[in-house]
Amino acid sequence: RGKRAFIAGVADDNGYGWAIAKSLAAAGAEILVGTWVPALNIFESSLQRGKFDESRTLRDGSLMEITKVYPLDAVYDFPEDVPEDVKTNKRYAGSSNWTVKEVAECVKQDFGSIDILVHSLANGPEVGKPILETSRNGYLAAISASSYSFVSLLQYFAPIMNPGTFLFLRHLLYPFSSSFKNIVKLSLVLISGGATISLSFIASERIMPGYGGGMSTAKAALESDTRMLAFEAGRKHQIRVNSISAGPLKSRAAKAIGSKGISYIDRMIDYSRENAPLQKELSAGKSLPFSLTTLTSLKEVGDTAAFLASPLASAITGAVIYVDNGLNAMGMGV
Ligand code: NAI
Repeated sequence: RGKRAFIAGVADDNGYGWAIAKSLAAAGAEILVGTWVPALNIFESSLQRGKFDESRTLRDGSLMEITKVYPLDAVYDFPEDVPEDVKTNKRYAGSSNWTVKEVAECVKQDFGSIDILVHSLANGPEVGKPILETSRNGYLAAISASSYSFVSLLQYFAPIMNPGTFLFLRHLLYPFSSSFKNIVKLSLVLISGGATISLSFIASERIMPGYGGGMSTAKAALESDTRMLAFEAGRKHQIRVNSISAGPLKSRAAKAIGSKGISYIDRMIDYSRENAPLQKELSAGKSLPFSLTTLTSLKEVGDTAAFLASPLASAITGAVIYVDNGLNAMGMGV
């Protein structure tokens, strides 16, 4: 069978999670998504009403199928974690089994296993505030939703991820000895284990004024965890763990960044267009024609994720890969 992917953090057709779903679907994967509980109804009804049909179209003209949409709130690991006011909130009360542990259990019940886990979600309630003015709660909430959520997803999904298969390959070695005696060597080769991918941002390592509320810290944590988890999940489950440091995209989440009427994401996109080595459009901004928006960064990030999830990347783990038109390599603006 083809690979099965669970993508956490898809609630519309504008973000990186959606783009990754499309690239994985185009490569033959079965797609399951985890959608933030408060955004679930609108996402599902838009999907059913055909609102996303144009952007669901794959390269061969077929429509991406999403086999199942699971409600998810990655800030809660199990039901005992959920405070009373959230449980009874009307946006949550209509859904069930949306903590990370429960979602993993439901996926196991429905499908048995997955091969690919994608974390494409972030939230920082005080992202509009400079870190110097961020509250403890705002800072911890950013880390909880944007970094620990990946640790939690991996904890609960790793046991249902298909491990790699080890194959013994027999090589014949011909040493340059006078006898030309064949020496048989056995080597252990890992064939295509599970793969996980998260989305990061260069604010983890460089000063990006405006990316506040502890979100820069959350991305630094996510990248550091990418390395530790690559080791631990690699040794324990033969799972690879990588992150994509993506260029700026005017997604729903990114529109929330900014303060005093200044849109951070617009500035970032302009800056990138002016200064990156490759002067391609990075934005999926509404002013661009549809064909252009899908040809650029969304697709490029999606395709990188598909590569990282594939056996082509079977020796890549613990890596943060830039997909940003090369902006990260610049030392000075043009
Ligand atoms: P997006 O709005 O498409 O994705 C964020 C998703 O997170 C939304 O679907 C939202 O509903 C979901 N979410 C928020 N809190 C959640 C929770 N507690 N549980 C479950 N889901 C939750 O926006 P975008 O920008 O595509 O974000 C995807 C990832 O890409 C994020 O990690 C973001 O930081 C990262 N990224 C975005 C960049 C950009 O310029 N937009 C640049 C580099 C990285």
